[in-house]
Amino acid sequence: MNRVELSQQIIDTCLEMTRLGLNQGTAGNVSVRFDNGMLITPTGIPYEKLTPDHIVYVAEDGSFEEGKLPSSEWLFHLTCYKQRDDINAVVHNHAINCAAVSILNKSIPAIHYMVAASGTTEIPCVPYATFGSTKLAEYVEEGITKSKAILLQHHGLIAGEVNLEKALWLAHEVEVLADLYLKILAVTPDAPTLDDESMQVVLEKFKSYGLRVEK
Ligand code: 13P
Repeated sequence: MNRVELSQQIIDTCLEMTRLGLNQGTAGNVSVRFDNGMLITPTGIPYEKLTPDHIVYVAEDGSFEEGKLPSSEWLFHLTCYKQRDDINAVVHNHAINCAAVSILNKSIPAIHYMVAASGTTEIPCVPYATFGSTKLAEYVEEGITKSKAILLQHHGLIAGEVNLEKALWLAHEVEVLADLYLKILAVTPDAPTLDDESMQVVLEKFKSYGLRVEK
């Protein structure tokens, strides 16, 4: 896919993220791996005003095109691509339930088998650091090596996947899990969880889940 097509896909993903109720205003950002670097949303422009021309190319050394300003979170996006070969698209948002769980500083344990969609048995919450900071990118580096979805304390969610469609799907699934977790926490502080053996079975099944047979 060429740059303009990918840029349009980024914008479509942003608009869909808002439509799904996962984000609002200028919160959140979206990127896709491209040409040894990435294409990423610009900083502070509402999604509905974006055109492919606004999308910024950031090289692997962090340099970017003159006359454009990438998302303030460009460093943690780049970090996700450097840390994992299986991530080609990254979605960040301030989804209400994910943000609420992050404010409680809780990781999402194996309360439901869908936690395994993150590629592991627990969706970690990484410590708070100022948005756009090197410190936050360091925490993200640690978290994303463990899980394709992570909560950022007092902030929101990051989800990375093989493409934009799957990254948004994962972000939506984690928001549903966070909603579920909050409902359980309202009843008991000790949420029942699946045992490790059961989760390993699901992790194995997820390796082929959703694969299509080419015709
Ligand atoms: P940007 O507009 O710079 O992408 O910032 C939004 C955000 O959510 C920061 O975490």
